[in-house]
Amino acid sequence: MLGMLRGHVYIRAFVFILAGVTFQVSRDQAGLTWENYQQGIELWRRCKRIRSPYLGQDLELYPKKKFIGYAGMDQATVDLLTKGKSRIDMKESARWGYAMYITDNPAMAKFFSEWIKADAFGANAKTYVCALWARDGDLFNSIGKIWVPELGDLQTDNKHWDKAKTAWSQEDRDRRVAHWGVKTPYILFSRHHWMEDMPIPKNTRWNEMVVYPQIQDAMFLTYPMTHHQNEEKIKKAYVPFDQQIKTWNITVPDETWQDFKKHGEHFIKL
Ligand SMILES: *[C@@H]1O[C@H](CO)[C@@H](O)[C@H](O)[C@H]1NC(C)=O
Repeated sequence: MLGMLRGHVYIRAFVFILAGVTFQVSRDQAGLTWENYQQGIELWRRCKRIRSPYLGQDLELYPKKKFIGYAGMDQATVDLLTKGKSRIDMKESARWGYAMYITDNPAMAKFFSEWIKADAFGANAKTYVCALWARDGDLFNSIGKIWVPELGDLQTDNKHWDKAKTAWSQEDRDRRVAHWGVKTPYILFSRHHWMEDMPIPKNTRWNEMVVYPQIQDAMFLTYPMTHHQNEEKIKKAYVPFDQQIKTWNITVPDETWQDFKKHGEHFIKL
């Protein structure tokens, strides 16, 4: 959102991602400077570098495809994503910002395919468990990844905040993540606390993976599953994201290791 104000170019500190376009936010009101212009161009280049073209839904068309995980989704999102398009749902709870929320556990994705009805879409909505793939596994591996501690001050409350505050908190998160050495665009991982009726033992946590719209649009494939397909996956073992820390090059800061330890989660530090 570039505009002119009394002869100076300024950038509005508002919605930073729309329709796959990334906007720089100028928080200090310094306007468009050579420095933030350069940062904007750099970010645009990093976004461009991770693009793998959408060739349709036939998995055979993607020789370097890689299976990633599962997500619960509503019909409107499924309709767009299965056409190679992008969608940001602003009604759903989004504690790490507007994004596609993926889990490794197909039973947890089933839980969320129901939970999002009460959260956003209504009891009669049609929802799905979807399987998510990366079009190009090498590109997926090369993207910056961060595992953040499950701390409230890092999170967004989009259900109670206006859009400007929500966008601002994404900026804050990006800065914290940059401080930990991972630049935007990145994929974010976190443990998630237990809630009533979740298919895991009480008071244990599980893994979530947060894929922001630029990355979803640049390299993801979405396949809605039937109830039967979902049940078959639930019967089988899956590889949890915490066992991918090395292969996927996930940056895990000390604060996160402390957060794991505090919850009695003894993941192996590689
Ligand atoms: C791993 O991630 C870090 C942080 O994003 C990055 O600096 C580094 O280049 C990555 N390594 C590989 C092999 O991709």
